[in-house]
Amino acid sequence: MEIYAHRGFSGKYPENTMLAFQKAYEVGADGIELDVQMTKDGEIVVIHDERVDRTTNGIGYVKDFLYKQLRLLDAGSWFHDRFARQRIPALMEVLEWVQDLDKEIMINIELKNNAIDYPHLEEKVLKMIGQFQLEKQVILSSFNICSMLKARRLHPVIEIGTLFEGVNESAVPSAKLVNAQAIHGDLPFVLSSEGKKAAAQGMKLRVYTVNDAKVASMLRNKEISALMTDFPNEFLAEKCES
Ligand code: G3P
Ligand code: CA
Repeated sequence: MEIYAHRGFSGKYPENTMLAFQKAYEVGADGIELDVQMTKDGEIVVIHDERVDRTTNGIGYVKDFLYKQLRLLDAGSWFHDRFARQRIPALMEVLEWVQDLDKEIMINIELKNNAIDYPHLEEKVLKMIGQFQLEKQVILSSFNICSMLKARRLHPVIEIGTLFEGVNESAVPSAKLVNAQAIHGDLPFVLSSEGKKAAAQGMKLRVYTVNDAKVASMLRNKEISALMTDFPNEFLAEKCES
């Protein structure tokens, strides 16, 4: 079972920042999960919420900021004063960093387009992945099945992990419709008969977000490809010891 750092090493560093990604890489995470939204001027930026309020010193929707305005925000102090220099990264910056790393790491890009329909988000993200030739290191995911279907039509082979929350009987048929290689589900989903059905049909299962060591140990005996956690350090150590 691989260990993916959820929003980077977000248990110890401010989520979705270059620092959280660097620290996840340094502890040896197999992958990094991150979230993307789009600015007013069409820049793809890495931030979980539609609004900047929770994780920066700004107020408002990401879609109402120009990229240069968004870059002025402090994306670290909300977590701890010592992280005041962290900024909201552009997806481009993250992909450039990934390309330069000595060791390959997977990047799970979650398109946060379930609440807001960002124009041409799928095209823009796929174009950027192509520019950096990172097709084999990227997994696209979203709770928005229509968006994943669009991404699949634009790119016949890129890995897609359709996202579901809770036990959902439409998960496997929806993933099949998209020709997704994986389903990303929460704990109830991966332990359910629907989760087992997905695995039996050859789909990879990745589980989010597990921070409990006992749960992680229990999942090791199951058909789970990856576990997403805010504390990749703890689960990677356990992986080596088992
Ligand atoms: O990608 C899985 C997980 O990150 C989805 O939930 O809210 O943490 O983005 P959330
Ligand atoms: Ca996410």
